[in-house]
Amino acid sequence: MSNGFSSGIEPIISIQNLHRIYHLEGEDIHAVNNITLDIWPGYVTAIVGRSGSGKTTLLNLIAGLDDPTEGEIHILGRRLSSLSEPERLKMRLYEIGFVFQSFGLMPLLTAAENVGIPLRMRGTNPIEREQAVAEALEWVGLSHRVKHRPYELAGGEQQRVAIARALASNPRLILADEPTGQLDTRTGRRILDLLRRLVIEREITVVIVSHDPQVIQEADVVHELRDGQLMETRIKDGIVLPDGSSGSIQFMEDAQTAYEIPQASSIN
Ligand SMILES: Nc1ncnc2c1ncn2[C@@H]1O[C@H](COP(=O)(O)OP(=O)(O)OP(=O)(O)O)[C@@H](O)[C@H]1O
Ligand SMILES: [Mg+2]
Repeated sequence: MSNGFSSGIEPIISIQNLHRIYHLEGEDIHAVNNITLDIWPGYVTAIVGRSGSGKTTLLNLIAGLDDPTEGEIHILGRRLSSLSEPERLKMRLYEIGFVFQSFGLMPLLTAAENVGIPLRMRGTNPIEREQAVAEALEWVGLSHRVKHRPYELAGGEQQRVAIARALASNPRLILADEPTGQLDTRTGRRILDLLRRLVIEREITVVIVSHDPQVIQEADVVHELRDGQLMETRIKDGIVLPDGSSGSIQFMEDAQTAYEIPQASSIN
């Protein structure tokens, strides 16, 4: 599963030769085209690319919401294709938190009720649930907005409610699809800071799908997709992943072209 030397740490998500082909009105759309990559625990990983490059398709495959045409995904120590639908549901409810561009909040429910939805689905008892909800809302700095409904909240606050909802079930992994897509730059920055704190303070692994330059800048590892294919993986300078890959080589190459030393003969 790991492509690395044995650090003892396994990828939290490992994708091998993944394909997803949609058949639409006689046309084949190769939305995910032979993607192989590992996502390591304890980092912010971004999957980036232009609109239509296959980001959401890939995220849905990772979450087990869709099935690949070909290829394998290992996630949280399990082979996704070997899980039944109830097992996948359980994994999503207990181990994965979701954050969406459109926030995905129920309009008629209060912030607290929205945050409590996954716990309700899990059958968590009301006392425990209330406590988890209050803690999660406090963590995102929204204790004073508990009773507000989504339309009574600013966009950034709605996204923080969505993060609290992802957080309340104490997941190991958060999957976020364009979490800053509907926010202004400053509010987007705050949301990214919150996601970063999840990694540092709660040891949650965060995977963000986006085309926001701020996300690209913030992420430790960036996988860039183009037309369903993985074009490039960039690792932040100074980071060495458990498989031994690191940012410095990429950055050295960049630096070489950026600061190319002129040939002695051309200096005169
Ligand atoms: N259910 C579907 N049926 C047919 N084609 C689809 C389906 N879902 C996505 N596609 C196509 O697959 C390709 C990848 O779509 P996807 O939604 O994964 O892109 P994306 O990178 O998330 O784009 P965006 O940044 O706009 O959200 C696109 O060409 C899209 O039209
Ligand atoms: Mg998308």
